[in-house]
Amino acid sequence: MTDPQIPPRKKITLPYLFKKLADGEPITWLTCYDYPTAYLQEQAGIEMILVGDSLGMTMLGYDSTLPVTMEDMIRHTQAVRRGAPTAFVIGDMPYMSYQPSIETAIRNAGRFMAECGCDAIKLEGGAAMADRIRGIVDAGIPAIGHLGLTPQSVSALGGFRVQGKSAVLAKKIVDDAKSLEKAGAFAILLEMVPDRVCKLITERAEGCIIMSLGSGPHAHGQLLIYHDMFGLYPKFKPKMAKVYGNAGEVILNGLKNYQNEVIAKQFPQPENWFGMTDEEYNELEKLVG
Ligand code: KIV
Repeated sequence: MTDPQIPPRKKITLPYLFKKLADGEPITWLTCYDYPTAYLQEQAGIEMILVGDSLGMTMLGYDSTLPVTMEDMIRHTQAVRRGAPTAFVIGDMPYMSYQPSIETAIRNAGRFMAECGCDAIKLEGGAAMADRIRGIVDAGIPAIGHLGLTPQSVSALGGFRVQGKSAVLAKKIVDDAKSLEKAGAFAILLEMVPDRVCKLITERAEGCIIMSLGSGPHAHGQLLIYHDMFGLYPKFKPKMAKVYGNAGEVILNGLKNYQNEVIAKQFPQPENWFGMTDEEYNELEKLVG
C-alpha cells in the first residue's frame, strides 16, 4: 500500500546526492533494519538508509556490535531493500568482514551489492583501512568511511564517548578523513566528534560528502539512529539523539491493554473473529456426530 498523497520518487543515486552537495542542500540519512520501517522511511522521503551493524544492539539485544555476522547483515539488508526500493541503501560491514584483508573486504562488500541490492557499503576506520576502501572502490562499489566513535573499536576507544576533543586527536581524525577521501570514499560519516572538527573536515572535503551523527550542523547531511528517535532502545538514549516520538511508550501501553483485556475477557469481540453459517454448522455437527 502506498500513500496516494506521496508521489512516487525516482531512485536516489550518487549523482542525486552530489547534486544536493553542489546545491548546498542537506542530505537525510537514518538507520533501518526491517521491512515495515524501511517502508515508512521511504514514504517519509528519507534519502539514505544505513542498515547498520548497530542492529546487533537495537534488534538482537547484544551489548555491542561485535557479534554481528555477515549473515545477520544480509538478512536484514534484504528486508530493508524490499521496503525501500528507491532509497540509497548502504550495507554496514560487520566486525571482521573487512579488517583481515583487502580481499576479504572486497568479497564481503560484493555480497551486499549482489545479494541485497545495496547502493554502497560503509566501514569503520581511518588511514589503516584506506587500502580496504581503495580495493572496494576499485571493484566498482561505492564506499563510505566512518570516523570518530567507531563502535567496532569500542574497547580500544575506552567506551561510547566523544572522540577528537584534544587538538592532537582531532588532527588525527582530520588526517584520517583525507586518507579515506584520497582512497576513493565518496562519503565519510563523522560520529560524535566536536562540531568544529566536523566543520573543518567538511570545509576541506573535495568532492566527498561529509555526514554528521552527533557532530553538529556543518556537515553536508545528518544521520540518526532510528531506535533512538522513537524511544525504541531500552538500555540508553545517547545525548545527541532527538526523540521525535515515544513509540516505545505507545507500544508498551498497547501491550498492557491487550494483557488486561484478555484476562478480563474483553478481548476478542465479534469483529475480531470469524464465524460460519448455521446451515454449515448444523451439517458439521452431523458430520462429527
Ligand atoms: O551501525 C550503525 O548504525 C552505525 C552508526 C552508529 C553510524 O554504524
